[in-house]
Amino acid sequence: MKIAILSRNPQLYSTRRLVNGARRRGHSVSIIDPLRCYMNITPTAPEIHYRGKPLTGIDAVIPRIGTSVTYYGLAVLRQFEAMGVAALNSSNAVARSRDKLLALQILANKGIGMPITGFAHSPDDTQDLISLVGGAPLVVKLTEGTQGVGVVMCETQSAATSVIEAFRGLDAYFLVQQFVKEAGGRDIRCFVVGGQVVAAMQRQAAPGEFRSNLHRGGHATNIQITRLERSTAIRAAKLLGLNVAGVDIMRTPGGPMVLEVNSSPGLEGIETTTGENIAAAIIEFLEDDVRRRRKGK
Ligand SMILES: Nc1ncnc2c1ncn2[C@@H]1O[C@H](COP(=O)(O)OP(=O)(O)O)[C@@H](O)[C@H]1O
Ligand SMILES: [Mg+2]
Repeated sequence: MKIAILSRNPQLYSTRRLVNGARRRGHSVSIIDPLRCYMNITPTAPEIHYRGKPLTGIDAVIPRIGTSVTYYGLAVLRQFEAMGVAALNSSNAVARSRDKLLALQILANKGIGMPITGFAHSPDDTQDLISLVGGAPLVVKLTEGTQGVGVVMCETQSAATSVIEAFRGLDAYFLVQQFVKEAGGRDIRCFVVGGQVVAAMQRQAAPGEFRSNLHRGGHATNIQITRLERSTAIRAAKLLGLNVAGVDIMRTPGGPMVLEVNSSPGLEGIETTTGENIAAAIIEFLEDDVRRRRKGK
């Protein structure tokens, strides 16, 4: 197959692993910078041009779109889909997962466990919003943040009020969430490929930090997940329509709570922690997926 990886950075571990994984399985791969793709939106022969030439003959596209370029990246991905190229994760599914509010609403609707989460517009409702999630301490998070950036813990009601006012002043959309103390700064990253959890790791936040993101100094270890955690991760990915997803779950006495579902989960932490070849699993899934689509199934 001819595979395009939509990525801005060929040096990234994840990009390199996907390139090598695909080449090892006999595919030809090119890394395409989504910001250098331009397109004509036409009902007849949709095209993408890249650095002066039309992109042709591509069978499958792997989106690895950074959160800073979500809007443009999704436009490019939709154009690939319009050209009949198989996308590892569809533009609709990526869009759903990028918006934490939309994703949680979809998951809540189907009974997936999650921290109590509030969303409000008016400053007049701030105190009620804080009570709604059980008061301080609580977490305020941007609806489109990643790697722990834009996730703030507020220990007191007045800190929460100030942070909410500040985010509002910046015209940023944010969620207000119950702080799940029982999680102890830990969560579980379940890596889902094609409806199966192919690997899972526990992430523990650095001392003095509640965010377990590896980019924030979190420490990863192997973990055995429960059947319920496994089925929750698989359902969450499926409900958002993601073939490949990193589902973040907190283990609590009340059962698994999903924090978010990442559509471009990093490979480095999970591969080095578990020793699994996730890149190969992704490419094998893509091969099957393209085969199924060609058979019209
Ligand atoms: N409600 C919460 N209670 C406790 N810890 C939380 C809560 N929300 C987030 N965290 C911690 O912060 C980290 C980052 O939050 P997350 O919602 O996944 O945002 P991001 O997209 O920036 O990773 C999580 O992995 C978790 O460790
Ligand atoms: Mg996260």
